[in-house]
Amino acid sequence: MPDGALLRLEALDAYYGRSHVLQGVSLSVESASVVALLGRNGAGKSTTLKAIMGIVAPAGGSIRFDGEAIHHLASHRIARRGIAYVPEDRGIFASLTVEEHLSLTLPRAVTRGPSSKEAIYEQFPVLAERRRHRGNELSGGEQQMLAIARALTQSPRLLILDEPTEGLAPIVIESIAGIVHSLKGAGLTMLLVEQNYPFAVGLSERVYVLGKGRVRWEGSPAALEASPEVAATWLGV
Ligand SMILES: Nc1ncnc2c1ncn2[C@@H]1O[C@H](COP(=O)(O)OP(=O)(O)OP(=O)(O)O)[C@@H](O)[C@H]1O
Ligand SMILES: [Mg+2]
Repeated sequence: MPDGALLRLEALDAYYGRSHVLQGVSLSVESASVVALLGRNGAGKSTTLKAIMGIVAPAGGSIRFDGEAIHHLASHRIARRGIAYVPEDRGIFASLTVEEHLSLTLPRAVTRGPSSKEAIYEQFPVLAERRRHRGNELSGGEQQMLAIARALTQSPRLLILDEPTEGLAPIVIESIAGIVHSLKGAGLTMLLVEQNYPFAVGLSERVYVLGKGRVRWEGSPAALEASPEVAATWLGV
C-alpha cells in the first residue's frame, strides 16, 4: 500500500484478559475509499474498531490516523481528530428524541452547511418525519439511520460503521445502502464491518477478511468473488 493512508493499523495486538483476540492485525484505509472488514462471529471485527476508537487498549502495534499515532489517545480525542464511529448496538438513547440526539453532537457553531440539522433531515427524510419521536419509538432501521446521522454531525474525515445492516429487513437494508452509497459518492472515507457479504462487497474498494484475530486475506472485491475458498473458509458463505 502507498504511504498516504488516512488510517493505518500495524501489527495490532489486543487481549480480553488472557484471551489474545487481535494477533497482529495490519490494515490501511486510503483517503476517499471504502474498506470492508469481513469475518465470522467472534473473528475480532468489533474489537478492531474498538481499538481504533480507544475503547479497547491495544497491547502492541500501532494505529496512525493521517500519519499521527492515535493508539495512546482517549476516545474523545480520537473522535475529535475526525473519526466517527457507529457501534454495533447503535447507542441510541431510549428517552431522547431524534432532534435531541442531533442537538447533542452538532457543534454549536454549525447552523448551516452539510452537517447542519436541516441538511441532515434532507439527507434522512425518515428522521425529519420522526424528529419528535424518542429513541424507543424508532424502528431498528430508523435507529441505525439516526446513529449514522449523528455520526455525520461531527463532519468526520473517517466514518466507521459496525454491521449497519444487522437485524434489518431487506427493504431497510436497501435504504441504508442508498445512504452509504451517497456518502461514498460524496468522497467520505469509510471502514465498514459487515457480515452481509453482498452489501459490503458492493460498496468497498478493498476487503480484509479477519479470522480468529488475524487478517487471513486482503484484496479487491472482484478478487474475493474469484476466491470461493476464502469465503468458504473464513466467511462461511
Ligand atoms: N468484552 C469482552 N470480554 C471478553 N471477551 C470478549 C469481549 N468482547 C468480545 N470478546 C471475545 O473476543 C472475540 C472477538 O470478539 P469481537 O466482538 O471482536 O468479534 P466480531 O468479529 O465483532 O464478532 P460478531 O460478528 O459476532 O460481532 C470473541 O471471541 C469474543 O467472544
Ligand atoms: Mg462485532
